[in-house]
Amino acid sequence: MKNTMTMIDNRNGKSYEFNIKDATRGPSVVDIGSFYAQTGMFTYDNGFTSTASCKSTITFIDGEKGELRYRGIKIEELATKHNYLETCYLLLNSELPNKEALVDFDLELRHRSLLHENLKNIFATFPTDAHPMAALSAATAALSAFYYSHLNIADENDYQEMARRIIAKMPTLAAFAYRHSIGAPFIQPDIERSFTENFLYMLRAYPGGKMHIGKDGEHKIKEIEIKALDTIFTLHADHEQNASTTTVRGVASTGAHPYVAISAGISALWGRAHGGANESVIKQLEMIGSVDKVDEFIARAKDPDDAFRLMGFGHRVYKNFDPRAKILKNLQDQLKDELNLDSNLMKIANKIEEIALNDEYFISRKLYPNIDFYSGIILTALQIPKSMFTPIFVIGRTVGWITQWIEFKKDKENKIARPRQLYLGK
Ligand code: CMC
Repeated sequence: MKNTMTMIDNRNGKSYEFNIKDATRGPSVVDIGSFYAQTGMFTYDNGFTSTASCKSTITFIDGEKGELRYRGIKIEELATKHNYLETCYLLLNSELPNKEALVDFDLELRHRSLLHENLKNIFATFPTDAHPMAALSAATAALSAFYYSHLNIADENDYQEMARRIIAKMPTLAAFAYRHSIGAPFIQPDIERSFTENFLYMLRAYPGGKMHIGKDGEHKIKEIEIKALDTIFTLHADHEQNASTTTVRGVASTGAHPYVAISAGISALWGRAHGGANESVIKQLEMIGSVDKVDEFIARAKDPDDAFRLMGFGHRVYKNFDPRAKILKNLQDQLKDELNLDSNLMKIANKIEEIALNDEYFISRKLYPNIDFYSGIILTALQIPKSMFTPIFVIGRTVGWITQWIEFKKDKENKIARPRQLYLGK
C-alpha cells in the first residue's frame, strides 16, 4: 500500500498524488509542499484548523481525549510529582534533571535573574497606568539590545544559554512592569529564594525586603502559595503550535533575535482569545456579579447576534475537558479554605460551569472550561492583581516559546514563514 493521497480536480479530471507522513502520536499529515508546483493552486485553511505548520517533538495534545504531554510525559504527572524548574529543564533537554543537574539549573537561573541597570529606565518611559503586558512586551524586545552580540549564535550551547537567560529574567521583567504600574519602587530578585517564591517576593516586598506587616506580624509568603503558583507556571509551560508560539516561530524564521521573537509572542498572547482570557474571565465574573444573573449571560453567549462570549470556555484543540483546567479545578478545591478563595466569584463560576456543561449549545459545540476559567480564581486568592494574570502566563510560557525557537533553528529544513492568499481584490 502506498503511503500517499490522491486528489482529483473534478473540473478537468486531473489527479495529483501527495505523500503522507505518519506521526508518532496523533494524526498523520499530507505533505502538500508541492501542491502549488503540481496544481498551480494554493490551499486555503482559514485559521489553520487543518494545517500542521512544522514538525515537533516537544508537546503533544490529543484534543479529543483531553490529553497533554511535554516530551512524552503527561501533564498530570508533571503537575503533581515535579516542579516548574524541572519542567523547564525537561522541555529544554528532553529529559527530567537528576538532583545535581536540577541544583545547577536552579542556581544558574537565580544568578541570571538580575536585569541590567539601564534596562530599568525602559519602564520609566511608560505612563504608570500602562498595562503591564505592554511594558513587558517592550522590555523583552529591549533585552535583545543588551544581548545583541549573541545574534550570531551558531551552536546548541549558545541557544541554551539564550534560553536560560530569558527564563530567569522574565519574572523580574514582569515584576518590574507591575511595580511601575502602581508607582512602587522596583524590588531586586533575592538570590536566596526559589524561582517561583522570588516572583511573589518581587511583587509584594517593601524596599529592604520586608513583606506586609499587619497586627499579627509579617505576612511571609506561604508554601501553599508558592506551590499553587508553581503549578500554574507548569501548566502554562508549553502548548504546541498555538497563536503566540506560531508568532515566535514566524519571527524566528526571518532570522531575527530570539528575544524580539519572544516579545512578539508576548504581544500575541495578550489578546483575550488567547492568554488575555485569564484576566477577562475574572472581569466577566465580576461584571456578572451574582449567581442569579448567570442565566442572562449564558443566554447572551448563545445568541448569534450578540458578540458576548463566555470567557474561559472553548478551545481550538480541546474538544473535551482541558486537562490543565481539571488540574486547576482540583487545586482550587484544595486551596478553598486555606487561601480564603473569593466565595462569590467561585459561586458564579460554579454556576456557569454547571449550566454550560449541561446546555445543548455548549455540548454540541464541545465547549468546555479551559485553563483560564480556573487560573484567575486561584491567582485572585494569591492576591495577584488582574493585570498580572497574563504576565504570569508569559512567565510560564517563556520556556515553551524559547524551546520552540531552538527547535526551529535546529531544523535543517526550516524556511521563512511566508503563506500565500486567496486574492479577491481589484
Ligand atoms: N462562548 C460562546 N460561544 C462560543 C465560545 C464561547 N467562549 N467559544 C466558541 N463558541 C462558539 C462559536 O460562536 C461558534 O459557534 P457557531 O458554530 O454557532 O458559529 C463555535 O462555538 C465554534 O467557535 P470558533 O470561534 O469557531 O472556535 P475557535 O476554535 O476558532 O476558537 C477560542 C477558540 C478559544 C478562540 C474560542 O472558543 C473563544 O473565543 N473562547 C473564549 C476565549 C478563551 O477562553 N480563550 C482562552 C483559550 S485557552 C488558553 C489559551 O490557549 O490561550
